[in-house]
Amino acid sequence: MKFSKILILVIAAICFTLPAMAATQVQLAVVTKPGSAQYVAAEKFAELIKERSKGEYNIKLYHSGSLGKETEILQQVQLGAIQMAIVTLGPFDTFVPEIKAVAFPFLFKDYETADRVLDGPVGQEALDSLAQAGFKGLQFSENGFRNLSNNRGAIHSAKDVKGLKLRVMQSTFHKELWHTLDANPTPMGWPIYSELQQGTIDGQENPLWVFEEYKLYEVQKYLALTGHVYSVHIDIANLQWFESLPEKTQAIFQTAMRDAAIYQRKVNRKKEAQYLASLKEKGMIVDEHPDIDSFRTKVAPMKEMDMYKEPKTRALLTKLLN
Ligand code: PAF
Repeated sequence: MKFSKILILVIAAICFTLPAMAATQVQLAVVTKPGSAQYVAAEKFAELIKERSKGEYNIKLYHSGSLGKETEILQQVQLGAIQMAIVTLGPFDTFVPEIKAVAFPFLFKDYETADRVLDGPVGQEALDSLAQAGFKGLQFSENGFRNLSNNRGAIHSAKDVKGLKLRVMQSTFHKELWHTLDANPTPMGWPIYSELQQGTIDGQENPLWVFEEYKLYEVQKYLALTGHVYSVHIDIANLQWFESLPEKTQAIFQTAMRDAAIYQRKVNRKKEAQYLASLKEKGMIVDEHPDIDSFRTKVAPMKEMDMYKEPKTRALLTKLLN
């Protein structure tokens, strides 16, 4: 082969491999596993970043608790040890107290209302509030409406919850919510299969996808579709790191996260009926129409609790309610 041909081949090889070699790696953590709501959003985001940054950035996904529970993931993002994460709102409230307003029980009546509010100016204000703890709030993606399950007995109304040993997220708000409902809540990180299996706790509450993906139907008998909280995932970055990116890159990250969330919400919602049918088929005893008003009435005074009187929380909740 002539020297000029060899030279062309070498240059072509360098041109091909250089972008891949030069890709900047960004670490993104989720506590849950492939197939979970967080993972679907994270995977889509990674795909969009690769495409839209033309290979300049590569998202490395950490999942299945490989970087710890959600509180630990938040600490790592806050310290800048990793750059990004998708985390359930619950554990955020020890970092940014007013964010709990977004999880107020029965705040959103349906998905459309949740989208309208969370994708609008009030949602943006809530995301911006995370800056005080060193987070860039990029987007809300979806966990789903939370439903109550347990092994003690069927739950039809709020009075059936009395004394129930319930796992709640590591969140001051969720603990208070279940205290208000007279349950016996214990905050724990995720996952919780063995605690349910061993009977350390009677029950837990989560969206339907969680029952299916984590096989909770194997260790939980009764399910009531309480839909008591619309649970969001918050898609975040370390604020300092994010602001150090060129403006054009920040815009790519921001819009890729928005588009990944829109995609993920669609996937989540499309599968809901399927999850419900499957859980029934697998033997769960489901109350599809529990007495929601009994729950609503019991939690309504929470608005007047000290944790909601704090001015920033009160201001955000008032805007969310209007
Ligand atoms: O209950 C939780 O901790 C969350 O809802 C989960 C299962 C991690 C999904 O976001």
